[in-house]
Order: sequence, then structure tokens, then C-alpha cells
Amino acid sequence: MSIEPRAGILDIRPYKPGSSEAPGIANPVKLSSNENALGCSAKAAEAMTAMASKLHLYPDGGATKLRQAIADAEGLEAENIVCGTGSDELLQLLGRAYLNPGDKVVQSQYGFLVYRLVAMQCGAQLVSAPERDYRSDVDAILEAAGDDTKIVFLANPNNPTGTYIPDAEVRRLRDGLPSSTLLVLDAAYAEFVRLPDYEAGIELARERDDVIVTRTFSKIHGLAALRLGWAYGNKAIIDVLHRVRGPFNVNMAAIEAGTAAIGDHEFQTRSADHNDEWVAYLRQQIGGLGLEVTPSVCNFVLIHFPETPGRTAAEADAYLTSKGLIIRGVEPYGLPNALRATVGTEAENRRLVEALTDFMKA
Ligand SMILES: Cc1ncc(COP(=O)(O)O)c(C=O)c1O
Repeated sequence: MSIEPRAGILDIRPYKPGSSEAPGIANPVKLSSNENALGCSAKAAEAMTAMASKLHLYPDGGATKLRQAIADAEGLEAENIVCGTGSDELLQLLGRAYLNPGDKVVQSQYGFLVYRLVAMQCGAQLVSAPERDYRSDVDAILEAAGDDTKIVFLANPNNPTGTYIPDAEVRRLRDGLPSSTLLVLDAAYAEFVRLPDYEAGIELARERDDVIVTRTFSKIHGLAALRLGWAYGNKAIIDVLHRVRGPFNVNMAAIEAGTAAIGDHEFQTRSADHNDEWVAYLRQQIGGLGLEVTPSVCNFVLIHFPETPGRTAAEADAYLTSKGLIIRGVEPYGLPNALRATVGTEAENRRLVEALTDFMKA
């Protein structure tokens, strides 16, 4: 007799993180996971080191200090915040708390892969709404959602496309959904977007009880290793997430480093400035090679390759890896002809452009 998991679990294709290895190359450049090119805040690293003498203690299960620091930095109410082991965990918890088997979940066509995992883990049915020019299309989402959708997941901006929709469009989406549908705004890359028509959705979540925003410390704060995220929303939803989270889901190193990081505005500004400069460089240079680059407001670019033998995404990927440059295939998103490259340091970005230039000339 074999012990069977719940129906549908074995259909899940496990999430494959960005590779960090290039066979035969000692110190490859990793541009496959949208990590922060500048590392992390020195204050965060110091705070983490300082807690080494407390490793035998359990952390504060409510992450009170961290929630207060987030609230202070962002002008929010601490009781409307819940922290998680990465925003990933918060997305999973939303599924665990709200989805029944058979429920409908809607995402945008190239929505972040974790939404699919969440839906499948819960036995929910995932519907993807077609995008236009690699951008979420509110009308298509509304049409796909109808009256019977439990959750709409919207990454704004989205990974792997790097595109965003303006606040007015997010509001139009919310207004068009029934109040029985929870709108999850995943704003993992929000801090990189410094455009007047963009909002992470915090105001919307403050105004309405059917919106929740998830955020992460993995990107602008450069703390991916610590696995730290937070969600902001109506007290009723936050209360539900507190009930389903593990009692100590956020570890003490994350609490200490996160508290220091959220107050380090200088590091955040420097990271966003660096990103603005180098995302523009990558787009311009790679575009100059005749490759289409989707306009990105994130710390990565999506590069489209032709199907011409010798010039395909798979061949480019293999070539770059052979040169010690690891970027990300996005075939699991239904984008077999594209690769996603994270913005790196100046030297890394220049190396990527040089290698791609050689590849296109070969
Ligand atoms: C759109 C989006 N949402 C959420 C996450 C999860 O981030 P984390 O779990 O590190 O907070 C990522 C990570 O790449 C992402 O790209």
C-alpha cells in the first residue's frame, strides 16, 4: 500500500530556483534570481551579526519590533501587518486560508509562478488571463474572473515580464471584481518603481477590506537569504493569516536585519538609483543587438530571442553559461523564446552585454 498525498499534489512541477552554477567555472556571475546587485544594507548585516549570541532563543513569534519598524517607515499601522518567511510564504498562507478545493483563482498570463503552485497545493483551479504586450490586461482579468473567483493574484510589477499597470488600472480591476473576490497585490518590486502613476496598492488596501498587498525584503533590501516578507491589509485578513502561520515563522536574524534594513533609506535609494541606470543600459545595449527587450521597471529584463537556429534563447543561455554568466530560462512561464537577466553590478552588466554581443555576432 502506498501513502497517497492529496489529489493534485503530484501534478505540481516543483519551483526551480535560479541556477547558481556554471559547469567548470569557478565563480560564475549569478543573474538568475533578481537579487540586489549592491548586496544589502551594512546596518542590516551588522544587526544580524549582533544577534549571534542569541541563537539559542526563540524569536518573538509576532515579530512585533519588525512590524512596528515597517509601520514607522511606511506610515502604516503595525496591527495591519503580518510578516512571513519571504512573501512566498504569505502567498501560500493566503491559499491555505482562503482556497477550498475546486475554487477558482485568476492570474495574468505570465503571472509569477508561485500563484500556480498555491492554486495547485489547494486543489484550486487556476485560470490565466491573456496579457497584451507582456502587460497585465485588466479587461481580460475581469473577463476571466467573472463572479465566482476566490482570489485574483496580480504581481504589480510582474516577474518575469518586468511590466506594471498604473494605480488607476488596479483600482478599475478592484471595482470590477465582486467583493467576494480577494485581490492579492504582489508588490515585490515596488520600491524600484518611481513613477507617478504607480502605487504598490497600500492605499487601496487601506480603503478596502478585499485587497491585500504583499511585499518583500528580498529585492530592494537585498535580504533574500533571510526569507522575509510582509503583508498589509484589513485587520480581518491579517488576523486570518496570523492564525495559519507557524508560531515562529519569522526567525530572529530576519527580524533584526529587517528592522535595520527598513530604516536604511540611503541603501534603498542607492539600490533604486543603481537599478534605474543599469536597467536602461541593458535595455538600450541589448536592444541595439536586434533583440527585443520588454520595458522593465524591475531589477531584471526579459530578453526575447528569435527562433532562428544559432540565435535561440536556449542557445544563448548555453553560450552565456559557458562564459560564466547565469541568467534565467522562462520556459515554465510559457516563454520558451525568452531569457530573464537580473541587473548586476556595473562590471557584471557590461560582461553580460559583451557576451551577448559575441553570441549575436557568432
Ligand atoms: C513577483 C514576485 N513575488 C514574490 C516573490 C517572492 O519573494 P520572497 O519570497 O523572496 O519574498 C518573488 C521572488 O522573486 C517575485 O518575483
